[in-house]
Amino acid sequence: MMKDKLKKIKEEAISNINSLDSLDNLERIRVKYVGKKGELTSVLRGMGKLSKEERPIVGQLANDIRQEIEEELSIAKDKLKEKIKEEKIEKEKIDITITKKTRKLGHRHPLLATIEELENLFISMGFSVIDGPEIETVEYNFDALNSPENHPSRDLSDTFYITEDILLRTHTSPVQIRAMKQMKPPIKIVSAGRTFRFDDVDDTHSPMFHQLEGLVIDENVTMANLMHTIDVFIKELFGKDMETRFRPHHFPFTEPSAEVDVSCFECKGKGCPICNGTGWSMELLGCGMVHPKVLENCGIDSEKYSGFAFGMGIDRITMVKHGIDNIRLLFENDNRFLEQF
Ligand code: DAH
Repeated sequence: MMKDKLKKIKEEAISNINSLDSLDNLERIRVKYVGKKGELTSVLRGMGKLSKEERPIVGQLANDIRQEIEEELSIAKDKLKEKIKEEKIEKEKIDITITKKTRKLGHRHPLLATIEELENLFISMGFSVIDGPEIETVEYNFDALNSPENHPSRDLSDTFYITEDILLRTHTSPVQIRAMKQMKPPIKIVSAGRTFRFDDVDDTHSPMFHQLEGLVIDENVTMANLMHTIDVFIKELFGKDMETRFRPHHFPFTEPSAEVDVSCFECKGKGCPICNGTGWSMELLGCGMVHPKVLENCGIDSEKYSGFAFGMGIDRITMVKHGIDNIRLLFENDNRFLEQF
C-alpha cells in the first residue's frame, strides 16, 4: 500500500519537474514533495502503522525516492539557470557589425561668421564689443536718438510694438544710447544683433535682419576720423583695392550724415551689369557725426566731446561677400545651402 503511494508521489514529482518553466515553480515543487511538510514526509509519518519487517524496506524506498527527486530537481535547476542565461544573452545582444550614422560636425552659420569677422576687425582697431537687447524702449529706439515724433519709421505699419512704450528694436542704434548712458568717454564700441521691421519678405527684405552698430566718442573726433575708420575697415573686410564713397544723407541722430558706397564687388569699380555700369555697390552703410542733441540726451557735454557713429546691414554684407542672391537662404537653415560655407 505504502510502496504504491511512494511510487505514485515519485512519478508525479518527476513529471512535474520535467515540465518546469521557472525557478519559482521549481521551489514550489521542492517544498511540495520533499519539503519538511511535503508529501514524502507525511507518508513517512504513517510508518508507525507498518510491521517491523516492512519499516526498513519502506524507509529505504522513501529515502531513495527523496534522493532521486532531489537529483532531478538539481538537474532541472541547472537547466533552468542555463536557459535564463541564454535568454538574457539573446536579449542583450548588440550587433557590432551594424553601421551607425556618425554625427555630422557643424560649423558657423555664414551670418555668425560675418559678425565674428566684423567684430574681430573692430577689436583689432581698438573697439570693444557690447550687447544690447532686442526688445527695446521707444525712448531709446526713437526719442533719445532725436527721431522726430512724426517720423514714418515710428508708424505701427513699420514697427513691431509690444506696448506703446516697448518694441522690437528697428535698428541697433539704441545701443549707442545705452553705451553713452553707461560709459564715460572715451567710448569706442561696436554691437551686432537682430533688428526687426514690418517688411514683407522678398529676395532682399526680411522682417528680421541683422545690423552692426559702431560708436566713437572722445574729444576732437572729426569727420576725417570717421571716413578713415570706414575706409580702413572696408579695405580690411573686402580687399585693399576696394574704394569707399561718401554721399550726403539724412539720419536724425547724426549731423552731418552720409551713406557709404563701396566699389562693385564684381568689377571692382570698372562698371558691369551688376552695378548698372556705375562701378559702385550702393548703400553699404549709414554713418555720421553724432548729433549734439543725442550726446546731451545721454548726459555727455557736446561742447567738450564729439563722436561718430555707423550702422550696417550684416545680411547684406554676407550676401555680397558670398554672392548670395536671396536673403531667405540665410534663415531657412537648409543644410544643402549651409554646407557650402
Ligand atoms: N540706424 C540706421 C538704420 O537702421 C543706420 C545708421 C545710420 C546707423 C547712421 C548709424 C548712423 O549709427 O550714424 O538705417
